[in-house]
Amino acid sequence: MVLKVENMVKSFNKLVAVNGVSLQVKEGDILGLLGPNGAGKSTFINAILGLTKVDEGTIEIFGNKISRAAKKKIGFVPQEIAICYELNAYDNVAFFGKLYGLRGAALKEAVKKSMEFTGLWDRRKENPKKYSGGMQRRLNIACAIVHEPELLIMDEPTVGVDPQSRNNILETIKKLNENGTTVIYTSHYMEEIEEICTKVAIIDLGKLIAEGTSDSIKNSILTERLTKFEVEDDNGKCENIIKDIEGVISCSVNENGNALLVKSKKNIDNLPIMIERLVKGGVKIISVNIEQPTLEAAFLSLTGKTLRD
Ligand SMILES: Nc1ncnc2c1ncn2[C@@H]1O[C@H](COP(=O)(O)OP(=O)(O)OP(=O)(O)O)[C@@H](O)[C@H]1O
Ligand SMILES: [Mg+2]
Repeated sequence: MVLKVENMVKSFNKLVAVNGVSLQVKEGDILGLLGPNGAGKSTFINAILGLTKVDEGTIEIFGNKISRAAKKKIGFVPQEIAICYELNAYDNVAFFGKLYGLRGAALKEAVKKSMEFTGLWDRRKENPKKYSGGMQRRLNIACAIVHEPELLIMDEPTVGVDPQSRNNILETIKKLNENGTTVIYTSHYMEEIEEICTKVAIIDLGKLIAEGTSDSIKNSILTERLTKFEVEDDNGKCENIIKDIEGVISCSVNENGNALLVKSKKNIDNLPIMIERLVKGGVKIISVNIEQPTLEAAFLSLTGKTLRD
C-alpha cells in the first residue's frame, strides 16, 4: 500500500476540517480527491505530507510513518504556485533536483526529462514571470517530478489553466502513471477525474462520502435514468402514453411539443415498451437518446450541491 490513512481528524479551533477520513491508495493508482471549496482536500493532503499535524488517526506512507526517506520518494505540487522568479525556468527545476541530491550529468538529464515531459524544454531559458499561468503550473509540476518520485501528490493542478496546459498536465499524469508513478490529486473538475482516475474519493465537509471507481460510484448512487425522445409532433399524446409504463417516474414534453423527457428507475429496461407504445399511438419518433450518468450527477445527489457552488 502506498498510502494508508485511518480515521484522520484535524480541527482548526472549532472547525473540523477533516472528520474521520480513512483511505487507502495502492501502487499504480491515480486517486482523484473530489470536493467543493473548503471540503478539507488540502488539509488532508498537507497532513499526509506531514506539513500539518493531525489530532487523531494514523497515516502510513510506503508502509511506515512519514520520514525523510519517504519524502524523497514523493513529489508535491501545492495548490498555490511556488516557483522562484529570480531564477529562470531551467534553474528552478535544477534547484529542486539539487534539493533531492541530484548532481552533474544526472541532474542535467533529470531536468531535461522533466521539462520535456511538461512541454517547457524549448522555453527553459525564460524567466517564469513571462510564463502564462498554465505554464507556471507546468513548471511547478516539472519541479515536483525532477527526482522521479514514486508518489506524486498534486493539489488542484489544473485550476485556472488554459486548455492547452490542462491537456499537457493530464497527459503528463497519464504518462507518469504508465511509467509506474502513483498519483493523488485533488480537483474541482469532474470530467478530468472521470477521464484519468482509477479511483475516486469524494469528500464534503471533512467527511469521505463516497469511494470507488467513477463507474461504481455512479452505479451505487444514481437510481434514475433519463431518456429523451425527439418526436415530430406530440399532439398532446405522449405524456398519457408513457406515464403508466412500469419504471417511469415522471415525463414531460417541451414547449414546442417536439421533445419528450422521461425519467425512469435505472434498473428497469422499459425503453422497448416506450417505443412500441409511442409508435402504436401514432407518434413519429425522430431520435432517442439515453443520457449517460455523470459523476457530476452522482456528486449532486450525494452532497445536494454542485462543485462550483
Ligand atoms: N490554517 C488554517 N487555519 C484555520 N482554518 C483552516 C486552515 N486551513 C484550512 N482551514 C479551514 O479548513 C476547512 C478545509 O480547508 P481546505 O483548505 O482543506 O479545503 P479544500 O477542500 O482544500 O478547499 P479548496 O477547494 O478551496 O482548496 C476550511 O473551512 C478552511 O477554512
Ligand atoms: Mg484546497
